[in-house]
Amino acid sequence: MKLFIDTANIEEIQKANDLGVICGVTTNPSLIAKEGRDFKEVIKEIAEIVDGPISGEVKATTTQAEDMVIEAREIAKIHKNMVVKIPMCEEGLKAVKILSQEGISTNVTLVFSATQALLAAIAGATYVSPFLGRLDDISASGIDLVADIMQIFNQYGFETEVICASIRHPIHVIECARLGADIATVPYQIIMQMIQHPLTDIGVEKFIKDYQKVFG
Ligand code: E4P
Repeated sequence: MKLFIDTANIEEIQKANDLGVICGVTTNPSLIAKEGRDFKEVIKEIAEIVDGPISGEVKATTTQAEDMVIEAREIAKIHKNMVVKIPMCEEGLKAVKILSQEGISTNVTLVFSATQALLAAIAGATYVSPFLGRLDDISASGIDLVADIMQIFNQYGFETEVICASIRHPIHVIECARLGADIATVPYQIIMQMIQHPLTDIGVEKFIKDYQKVFG
């Protein structure tokens, strides 16, 4: 399984990249707005740090396929690793069809059902992003959705890769990995949680004490 980082914060991206565990980045309009900086400027800085797919979303206010396509072409021009995030909807699917014919990579986002994922794959999406946490929040099962999508994609040999998104805790990542999902896009804080284990801390402390007792 590959790990992407789900943030537009340059410091977090740099720190996660230094760990050698991420090979891509996903952003969304909320994450970009949180940084309060120009979209292109942020994306260019990200591209200097991470040599892998970088998802940048069309503006939240862009709702028509033709406009999404125009904007997507501009996003694709920013860097060779750009992946254009398109929201799952009728107009989004139309845009994905055109962009896939033009060889522009797409990430269909806000996927909450297997039918949506199937349609996105058929339309030619490079990636689909099922949102686990937001489904869990409404008492539906995010991980069951990933299982359905993986089964369907594997059954038909779709090349569309599954990016497990809206990850809220390390167990989400493990469950996605068990299902063979291609990618999990994970907030920085969760990468930090994945590193931690109290027995590791106790072990390191004991090694230090035992060593110092004898060698000072
Ligand atoms: C994915 O690409 C999205 O940016 C993200 O995972 C959404 O997560 P959230 O539900 O925590 O906002």
